[in-house]
Amino acid sequence: MKPGVVCWQSPSNIALIKYWGKYGNQLPQNPSLSLTLKNALTKMKVSYSFSGSGKLQTELLFEGKESPLFHKKVNSFLTSIFTYFPFLNQLKIRIETENTFPHSAGIASSASSMSALALCLCSIENDLFESLKIKEDFYKKASFIARLGSGSASRSVYGGMVLWGRHEGFSASSNEFAIPFREKIHPNFEFLNDAILIVNESVKKVSSSQGHALMQDHPYAKSRFKQAKASLTRILGAIRSGNTMDFMEIVENEALSLHAMMMTSKMSFILMDPDTIHIIDKIRFFRKENKVDICFTLDAGPNVHLIYPKKDRHQVKEFIENDLIASHQIKKWIDDCSGNGPIKLMV
Ligand code: DP6
Repeated sequence: MKPGVVCWQSPSNIALIKYWGKYGNQLPQNPSLSLTLKNALTKMKVSYSFSGSGKLQTELLFEGKESPLFHKKVNSFLTSIFTYFPFLNQLKIRIETENTFPHSAGIASSASSMSALALCLCSIENDLFESLKIKEDFYKKASFIARLGSGSASRSVYGGMVLWGRHEGFSASSNEFAIPFREKIHPNFEFLNDAILIVNESVKKVSSSQGHALMQDHPYAKSRFKQAKASLTRILGAIRSGNTMDFMEIVENEALSLHAMMMTSKMSFILMDPDTIHIIDKIRFFRKENKVDICFTLDAGPNVHLIYPKKDRHQVKEFIENDLIASHQIKKWIDDCSGNGPIKLMV
């Protein structure tokens, strides 16, 4: 067998309808919808050669250095997916990976890194066996595998808006992999930007796995999953018809519902900082005063994602720099927008 190298860049994504709560082997309790980003991404190179040892053999460099914790996580993930890539234990694998966003930016890197890894593995399979030559099959398997690494990573395999989880409006939707939302999108939502406002750079107080586990015996779990499904149906309607008021209301409500779940779980977490709340107030005031269709969303942490139409970038940039940065409510921000999804890089 000839040794080979595969290389992919894969972006992070921001959920508009949140995945929070899972069952079985990484299956979501409710469908979610996300926007794939453009600039916050992972670049990963995987070199492989034949070992014939029957044992997984890996090396991993994160940003040029060894990273024992991440390496351990990747090894246990690779071991868990032998069924889908039985050739893995006959290979010697070297993974070199880096992110375009700083480690301390509070952006979850699991979506971009796990999707990049899944894409690299599918490329290796294709190089060796030519079994994923059909584009749809390739991405479907990549999304399926990415999901096993991190739920939200299943959505990063496609560009634009992406749906993961069974929803009756989409016969192709599945809990096992994501699908791209390729329907008519109203021009109001065709070009969306995401300004990631870094309120706090510290490591997350609660890991996603811990967070999802808190939904297992949560008193509001049933209503939350029902609400997420209803929000998805409503937001899809808004995206088709161009109803920006509905869109903004749902996106903000989803973020606050996610935080409400964490606040009211058995082990309670308040993941917003005081500045997160100040910024939310300011965004709402700015929206009212300037008639700009800007809204916020949050992940499981204090940083704020500002979602707004690309055409308003100048005005929003001024707001961020002259108000939020000047008042020290944020230290920095990442200027991102919706992107077209992963790219296979030449090596
Ligand atoms: C709040 O995908 O990080 O960002 O499947 O345990 O890896 P695991 O969880 P993860 O959870 C993401 C939660 C979220 C909402 C979302 O992206 O939908």
